[in-house]
Order: sequence, then structure tokens, then C-alpha cells
Amino acid sequence: MTEINGRETEAPMNRRNAVKAFVGLGLASALTDCTPASGGGGPVGEMPGPPPAQGPQLDPEPERAPSPDEHEHPAEGDLLVFALGVRKGEVVTSADVPLDGPQIFAYAGDADGAHGASDASRLDQIILVRLDPMSLSEETAHHAAEGIVAYSAICTHEGCDISDWSTQNRRLICPCHDSEFDPTDNGQVTEGPARRRLAALPLKLVDGQLVVAGGFTGRVGFRSP
Ligand code: FES
Repeated sequence: MTEINGRETEAPMNRRNAVKAFVGLGLASALTDCTPASGGGGPVGEMPGPPPAQGPQLDPEPERAPSPDEHEHPAEGDLLVFALGVRKGEVVTSADVPLDGPQIFAYAGDADGAHGASDASRLDQIILVRLDPMSLSEETAHHAAEGIVAYSAICTHEGCDISDWSTQNRRLICPCHDSEFDPTDNGQVTEGPARRRLAALPLKLVDGQLVVAGGFTGRVGFRSP
């Protein structure tokens, strides 16, 4: 058993195979559910587009901030809280994010609780990973705080949570169809069927606290353009 983000999981290959079997049973639609974590209403998730083309062609998505009706969280000044595990709901500090992974799942929320984990949808879910600052591309470094980078946790292929991590290659990996994303290079796709990079979430440090510095830089979710 391996612990990831406070959860005990099977060994990586067993877990991945289990997820693939889950998808193969025709239950992939369950993974597109973007209802709030609290079980109530909330932002509607993006629907899957047509099957992606085979091959390494990547989607040159133009950079833009999502419009409010698409997605309004997280916001500048938000704190980050653990989304999973025994510390769920506690504020994440920079010291909580281990160097070279694995990633931590988090939600953003303001200090008054006006929004955050209590009303968050799957589209708000974030992954945090700390890397050597010298390994980051210029654009990635611009969004990072002490080498910590944040991305949407939703795979741009068909919307699974990006829950696996390759220590050897320092890649974020989606367990459903093995898409890989490079957290040192703005979440770009390096392997697998996904064609669009992960949306990055700018971070900053304020009085030693990890804080959101702005909205997502790119489209969150998995709808085709
Ligand atoms: Fe297919 Fe992530 S959902 S690779």
C-alpha cells in the first residue's frame, strides 16, 4: 500500500489497472460529474467533446481567463486547504508540499469562508507540487512560489483526477489513460491522449503563507474548444 495525499492506495500499477477497468466497464461518465464536493448545486462541469485524435498533436489553446459563468474560483488572495486525507480542510503551508512530489490535492478558499472547500466543485480542485526552482520554465517560474506550482487537478482528456506521480520523470500522470503533464513547463502534455495542457494557478507567498495570486491561466476541464 502507498499513501498519496493522505490516502492509502494500491501499488501504482494495480491502482492504474483498476481505474482502467472502471473506465472499461462504461462508467467513465461518472468521472465527468462536476457537482460540488458538498453534494449540492454548483458549477456545471464541461462535457466531453468528440474522441481525441490519435498521435502527438497538441491543442494550441489560446491563453485566456475563464469567464465568470464558466468558472469563478479560485480567486486572488485565496488560501489553500487540503482536499483529502486526515488534514482535509486545514490550510496548506509551503512546508506541507514535499520537494519533487508527489502532488497534494487542495481547494482554494477565502479567509472568511465565503467560498472554498465547502462549496467547491471538482473544477476547483487543485494539485500542488514543489520542484527545484531552477528546473522551471520561465513562464512556470513566474507563477510559482518557492518552487511550488499549482494546476487544475482535472485531466484535459476526459476529466479524471490527475492522481499519479512519476518521481523519476517528475510528471503528473492521469491514471485513466496515462496522459502525462510536465509541471516544470506550464503543465504541457508530454505523453498520452490529452491534447491540452493543464490550467495553471498562479501562487505567491504573503507573510509566509501560500496564497493564490490570480485566476487559472487557461481553460479548466476537458471540453474541446
Ligand atoms: Fe484520459 Fe486522463 S481522462 S488520460
